[in-house]
Amino acid sequence: MRRFEGKVALITGAAHGIGRATAVRLAAEGASVAVADVDTDAAGQLAAELAGDGGSAIALACDITSRDSVDAAVAASVDRFGRLDVLAQVAGHNLANRTEVEPGDDQWARQYDFTFTGAVRCIEAALPQLVASGSGAVVLVGSISGVVALGTNPYAAAKAGLISLVANLAAEHGPSGVRFNVVAPGTIATRAFANRPQALEDLKAIYPLRRVGQPEDVAAAVAFLASDDAAWITGITLPVEGGLTTGPGHLIG
Ligand SMILES: NC(=O)c1ccc[n+]([C@@H]2O[C@H](COP(=O)([O-])OP(=O)(O)OC[C@H]3O[C@@H](n4cnc5c(N)ncnc54)[C@H](O)[C@@H]3O)[C@@H](O)[C@H]2O)c1
Repeated sequence: MRRFEGKVALITGAAHGIGRATAVRLAAEGASVAVADVDTDAAGQLAAELAGDGGSAIALACDITSRDSVDAAVAASVDRFGRLDVLAQVAGHNLANRTEVEPGDDQWARQYDFTFTGAVRCIEAALPQLVASGSGAVVLVGSISGVVALGTNPYAAAKAGLISLVANLAAEHGPSGVRFNVVAPGTIATRAFANRPQALEDLKAIYPLRRVGQPEDVAAAVAFLASDDAAWITGITLPVEGGLTTGPGHLIG
């Protein structure tokens, strides 16, 4: 499939994990890709790999907690490629897992700023270009923990906010032809679990498909929602979670 031939995608958090797999997938389908990340070394390596494979890619420094940084990344991408059709907002993690914050007001505020307002910054920066595209698409990477209780409150609540955000933006900007959707992954084997490999093994049991997800599982869903195959789908949250939310039937009997 070459669903993104002639299109340009900006992907945040594209240096590692789900964002990286998304960049690889969209590039393989013909997109020119802006690899945007705080890890500029890894972003540069990926952009070089994509270009080496015959694609068109640029690495951009982008910190989604800074409006200036996000605005500059979008501007640099448009400077380079002349248009923007797809925004995939993937950057993020649970701050509590990386001991960057103390529990309390600071944790709530910083997680919300990172996960929710970070997505808003990216959307606001990209929106004029997405409208100009004529078939712009935004895909936000949320989490299944924003849909069902999995035990990390600030992160889960901030991810849940994205569900309402895309519904409202879809209604507001539908007439401009821009679509907004969320993918909500279950457990995905990325470096987020680098320090807890046993957790990935243990978590297989809660999934009816008896495995955790791979970054490519999410990338495929992002690519679908970003593509014209999803031209009449907007404002939704697509679970990508191996059947987790079907209920505990597979654990019984
Ligand atoms: N791994 C999972 O089980 C899982 C499950 C559900 C949702 N998610 C979500 O998927 C997304 C990607 O997670 P992952 O597991 O691939 O993580 P990852 O750590 O492998 O990749 C995250 C990327 O985001 C970048 N990043 C971090 N802070 C940034 C910032 N301020 N601005 C720009 N880039 C930044 C990192 O450098 C990295 O390249 C996150 O939004 C995460 O919440 C992950």
